[in-house]
Amino acid sequence: MNETLRTIEEETRARIEEAESQEALDEVRVSILGKKGRLTQILKGMKDLSPEERPKMGQQVNEVRQLIEEMMQEKKNKMKHALLTERLKRETIDVTLPGKRQIRGHRHPNQIALEDLERVFIGMGYEIVEGPEVEYDRYNFELLNIPANHPAKDEQDTFYITKDILLRTQTSSVQARIMEKGKLPIKIISPGRVFRSDEVDATHSPSFHQVEGLVVGKNVTMADLKGTLDQFARQFFGPNTKTKLRPHHFPFTEPSAEVDVTCFKCGGKGCGVCKGSGWIEILGCGMVHPHVLEMCGIDPEVYSGFAFGIGLERVALLKYEIDDMRLLYENDVRFLSQF
Ligand code: DAH
Repeated sequence: MNETLRTIEEETRARIEEAESQEALDEVRVSILGKKGRLTQILKGMKDLSPEERPKMGQQVNEVRQLIEEMMQEKKNKMKHALLTERLKRETIDVTLPGKRQIRGHRHPNQIALEDLERVFIGMGYEIVEGPEVEYDRYNFELLNIPANHPAKDEQDTFYITKDILLRTQTSSVQARIMEKGKLPIKIISPGRVFRSDEVDATHSPSFHQVEGLVVGKNVTMADLKGTLDQFARQFFGPNTKTKLRPHHFPFTEPSAEVDVTCFKCGGKGCGVCKGSGWIEILGCGMVHPHVLEMCGIDPEVYSGFAFGIGLERVALLKYEIDDMRLLYENDVRFLSQF
């Protein structure tokens, strides 16, 4: 082989071996195979050779070029491999290191109370339904026997979106929605958020939760209502809990009552939780007013029903002996994780 070519080949081999980076390798490539590279120069000079020498020289140059390209490729692969090995070494995982501690969330007392409550009613065959928080005046008031200008509207002042659309003040709105659908019998509870323009204090919030209950069918009586609430109270507050119905007024039930339960803390003797009376008020209820049934398309001559509305925060505060409703909304983990 031509001396010059041999020298080029040997020198290049050495340079490739020494090259430690892709850039260094590229430099070698340019200096040999580039436009002004040494091999390229030789190819260019072939025009000065005799016709006999030319093919031989051409072939030799090509051989050397091929060899150099192979060497380069091989070096490139080696570098890649080395890089990978180095990276794998660097990224090894020490499985003996202690794991990162996962901080678990905690169910909110409201949620715990709601799930307890739902379990009781599901056990009695109730279905859980939901209604919208942004509601028509029609469902929140009108169909519940609270027409325009009714004083009950003042007591439940709320946030209006338009004249006819508002943030619901009570989950009772779901009663009207379900009855209007016309599928009977009905046996539902409906938990959800409600709104009123109340100032925040230990027992009030502009946004809180209720659980509505509604049963409509043939021969549904007040005894069914009382039995249902007794069952609920015993399962939710403890097996010795008794209930007491106190006459009250709600526009959409007749008769209506407020329900007290014997204090689960003192059993009725009187203590701090029940403020000495032995009884704690937990909900409002009554027999669905015939006019409400009628407005919702149900014949009150054939069907009757009862309804109740439980303040979720109220029962949660009682059950967990929390004395300030605001604690439920601050969501301080130190507070929440106690339940
Ligand atoms: N919606 C009533 C309120 O927010 C509570 C209530 C009372 C619901 C009697 C009822 C009921 O379903 O029958 O004060």
